[in-house]
Amino acid sequence: MSRSAHPAGPRHADVMSEGHYTAPAEDLNVLDEKVWARTVTRDEHGALTVGGIEVARLAEEFGTPAYFLDESDFRARCRAWSDAFGPGADVFYAGKAFLSRAVVRWLREEGLNLDVCSGGELTCALDAGMPAERIAFHGNNKTVDEIERAVSAGVGRIVLDSFQEIVRVAHIAQRLGRRQPVQIRVTVGVEAHTHEFIATAHEDQKFGIALADGQAAEAVRRALTLDGLELIGIHSHIGSQIFDMAGFEVSARRVVQLLAEVRDEHGVELPEIDLGGGLGIAYTSEDDPREPHEIAKALGDIVTRECEAAGLSTPRISVEPGRAIVGPTAFTLYEVGTIKPLEGLRTYVSVDGGMSDNIRTALYDAEYSVALVSRTSDAEPMLVRVVGKHCESGDIVVKDAFLPSDLAPGDLIAVPATGAYCRSMASNYNHALRPPVVAVRDGQARVIVRRETEEDLLRLDVG
Ligand code: LLP
Repeated sequence: MSRSAHPAGPRHADVMSEGHYTAPAEDLNVLDEKVWARTVTRDEHGALTVGGIEVARLAEEFGTPAYFLDESDFRARCRAWSDAFGPGADVFYAGKAFLSRAVVRWLREEGLNLDVCSGGELTCALDAGMPAERIAFHGNNKTVDEIERAVSAGVGRIVLDSFQEIVRVAHIAQRLGRRQPVQIRVTVGVEAHTHEFIATAHEDQKFGIALADGQAAEAVRRALTLDGLELIGIHSHIGSQIFDMAGFEVSARRVVQLLAEVRDEHGVELPEIDLGGGLGIAYTSEDDPREPHEIAKALGDIVTRECEAAGLSTPRISVEPGRAIVGPTAFTLYEVGTIKPLEGLRTYVSVDGGMSDNIRTALYDAEYSVALVSRTSDAEPMLVRVVGKHCESGDIVVKDAFLPSDLAPGDLIAVPATGAYCRSMASNYNHALRPPVVAVRDGQARVIVRRETEEDLLRLDVG
């Protein structure tokens, strides 16, 4: 039963519409390829396989809950992004989505660069051999220690986020006898259509320096006078999980306008612009993400057009996709525990993980899909809410979905598209042990981040 034979999957929109829970028309056994990693399919017995390995075998060997990451899909997505943008542009994978030493090695091998936003991410990147010049260092409140480490390592760029930081980085670079390449992060005043907590280009928030009131122009003025800094460009990140290219286009246009102002005032053409990350992925069948080549074309065209109009030579463009690379490549495998039907409402299906391995549903009202993966079933669909095992009623993994009504304790279910911001935002709430990340490729599975143990937890508890 190959997923490509039946492209449509469970219909989430029907589920979500204002309390009208229409049973899905589609076969629940069919996997929608939009939300699953590329090598995921069902074998002839109906069991889900990834990289050619059946989930029951994976569960037996690695336990549940666990994240299974399709390495060949990850690498293919890296290549799709770098091919789409071509040699005249740079793709920086945003490590906050998910970072491990194996991931750094894959990025290095696939020719991508890396955006880090903390000393911890920097250490992971350097430790796994990412050349420092291919690293961009971000953050709205970098510590002196982090800046010193980044400058000493020779990172390719530090993205400056405030007036204080312009001076701080300049002084540190000078003290270390360096001239540090930097970009200035600006807020372009775009309202990105996404959750408030992940929108970052409107003015009333903590990131960047506003283009409005000439503040960004003033930041450029100051950066250009400081010997420790080599100002190489302007950075704008408008938010996350965005499908509409319009926000990126406005952002690109406003950044190019600033480049033109800088040229007019200082006679300097800044050579680079970075348009950040934020491209949306499919969490459910209702989501319709753009492909990297469409994004590259849309951004390239707008920058070229605006630069021609302003009489500027086209700067080198960089982008920072995190979710769009790693998000679709992994799923979380859970074992079904308690099943509680609530008459006239829905059935609560408890799994052996929860908000400690996926906080996104609780934090952003994120929508996910779910499928029974250890077998197929022809039973009637039942409306379910997949919940975790934490002492918290908001501990929801999948808010509304359908699963077969013969679901039973011990069945394996999987939530796709959990590669980004799930393991990286995982917690030890209720002393939960954070799940492992297992990379699967060509019939081989190997742990790249191991499961935490109770000894790990007690080791930190030194009281
Ligand atoms: N560049 C910068 C400067 C960023 O701040 C971010 C994300 C990215 C790139 C990557 O964005 P992506 O392509 O992955 O959307 N934890 C949230 C998202 C917060 C992301 C913060 N910055 C979530 O789970 O949706």
